[in-house]
Amino acid sequence: MHISFVVAVAENGIIGSGNELPWRLPSDLKRFRKLTMGKPIVMGRKTFLSIGKPLDGRANIILSRDQEFSVEGTLVAQTVEAALELGKREASSKDVDEIMIIGGAEIYKAFMPHATRIYYTLVHAEPDGDASFPALDFSLWKEVERELVNAGPKDCYDFSNLLYEKTASNT
Ligand SMILES: NC(=O)c1ccc[n+]([C@@H]2O[C@H](COP(=O)([O-])OP(=O)(O)OC[C@H]3O[C@@H](n4cnc5c(N)ncnc54)[C@H](OP(=O)(O)O)[C@@H]3O)[C@@H](O)[C@H]2O)c1
Repeated sequence: MHISFVVAVAENGIIGSGNELPWRLPSDLKRFRKLTMGKPIVMGRKTFLSIGKPLDGRANIILSRDQEFSVEGTLVAQTVEAALELGKREASSKDVDEIMIIGGAEIYKAFMPHATRIYYTLVHAEPDGDASFPALDFSLWKEVERELVNAGPKDCYDFSNLLYEKTASNT
């Protein structure tokens, strides 16, 4: 089972600002939808609140330490391990082999030891923000794809689609 991150990161490491994305990149959101459709998605409570509703066509698993937290149409987990168990169960029931970890900063940090793949959109900008992606240990991660995408008419910035895979010797 792959544990895959999907993230958009600016050149200065910023991924969020004021619990929102610091850019408008509809082309990247389309790619996000395509990459995650049909697969379980795991997110932190703050990212869920920022999105505002469960995403369709995907089992939405929300991490919160608050035992009272519940949202109709979602699954809530209180630990990383419980979220992974739910993710594996949901993936198996849909016959998919990937659990998608979709942020934010706290969640990427907590799941980093479990991650095997990162769909990494490098946003060619340096915005201000208050949420950052954790630094990658490049002795563990190998870049296997990189494609520059010019900003579409509604995108704020150019970006590149990168794919990182955990090196075999460290998985
Ligand atoms: N650029 C991107 O690709 C991208 C993707 C996603 C999000 N973002 C941005 O990232 C920012 C949000 O990130 P964030 O770090 O502030 O919040 P977050 O990671 O979305 O959520 C944090 C919350 O998750 C829960 N949590 C975290 N670790 C946990 C653990 N080990 N066990 C159980 N629950 C845990 C806690 O909820 P409780 O407080 O309820 O206990 C915590 O307050 C926003 O600006 C958002 O727009 C960017």
